[in-house]
Amino acid sequence: MSTLTLLNGMEVPQIGLGTFGGTRYSPEQVAQAVYGAIKTGYRLINCAASFGNEEKIGEALEQAMEEGLVARDDLIISSKVASDMHGKGDVLLSCAQTLRDLRLDYLDMYVIQWPFSDTGPFDVGEFMMVWRQMEKLLYMGLVRSIGMSNMTITKLDAVLPLCRIRPSVLEMELHPAFQQQELFYYCYAKSIQPIGICPLGSPNRADKDDDDISVIEMPEIVAIAETHKVHPAIVCIKWAVQRGQIPVPFAIDEIQYTNNLRWVSKLPLTESEMEKIEVADKNCRLLKGKEYLWEDSDDWQEIWDNEA
Ligand SMILES: NC(=O)c1ccc[n+]([C@@H]2O[C@H](COP(=O)([O-])OP(=O)(O)OC[C@H]3O[C@@H](n4cnc5c(N)ncnc54)[C@H](OP(=O)(O)O)[C@@H]3O)[C@@H](O)[C@H]2O)c1
Repeated sequence: MSTLTLLNGMEVPQIGLGTFGGTRYSPEQVAQAVYGAIKTGYRLINCAASFGNEEKIGEALEQAMEEGLVARDDLIISSKVASDMHGKGDVLLSCAQTLRDLRLDYLDMYVIQWPFSDTGPFDVGEFMMVWRQMEKLLYMGLVRSIGMSNMTITKLDAVLPLCRIRPSVLEMELHPAFQQQELFYYCYAKSIQPIGICPLGSPNRADKDDDDISVIEMPEIVAIAETHKVHPAIVCIKWAVQRGQIPVPFAIDEIQYTNNLRWVSKLPLTESEMEKIEVADKNCRLLKGKEYLWEDSDDWQEIWDNEA
């Protein structure tokens, strides 16, 4: 599979497997998908402590390596420090727990999942305290690259000048209904690789709002899918890869995850199809982070600095 090169020289596949099973899929089901996906050819696995399934995924990774399906060096394993582990020393503890659960002695990517802790709004000083711990993990050789997630341009402008080591990746919600053009090109200009989360619009997630767009039902996407005789999900993935982000679609169904990978290298979308998708953007954020609304704030847009 083709790869992209990060700022630090690390090669990363153009697509990975998401592992957020939520309340619909058990850790065992997700772990089985990870094992199957590696067998199919996936080399990037997007994990997080907060997804509650790293222990089972660790068993799957170990099995895949013991059976000789893949060597450790050929895998890119990514995880995230959760928002309840932002205190002094917590990031090292969190990383150690993830390494133990995933049965690894290093991670390829480690990302701050949310830019604020459970208890408060974003604060530059507090964020940098977390980032310094991330930098330390890198110096210690426990992680190969570090990144951020769920950021805005306002927050990046505040923290990037303070970073001793710049983030190599930014996990951000990216799908045809929420393309985040400004933030996407901001990252591009700063050589930060966007990782596209919820690339299919997370169709069955639990916290849907009534006015959320169903990405795989967008008429523009369905029309292109019909032309190519593929599921609309495949159009979302091809669009993402051709645009330059690294999508990490979640699937536990073997046919789904196999197709998601295989179609990446098949006939590309045309320039005109890419343009049609670009103008179809609905600026519809699905992952609102309402659970992080702090006291005295009732508008989830504030979490995103009212940027979109
Ligand atoms: N950094 C963060 O804070 C953060 C937050 C959220 C997510 N993420 C990452 O992003 C990953 C992806 O996001 P997501 O899991 O929310 O949703 P998603 O990838 O947008 O959507 C996944 C769902 O799409 C359906 N699907 C997958 N492949 C398909 C295909 N070929 N044809 C038809 N349907 C297909 C499946 O639905 P059914 O199961 O119903 O078949 C699957 O559950 C997560 O798993 C996680 O790793 C990171």
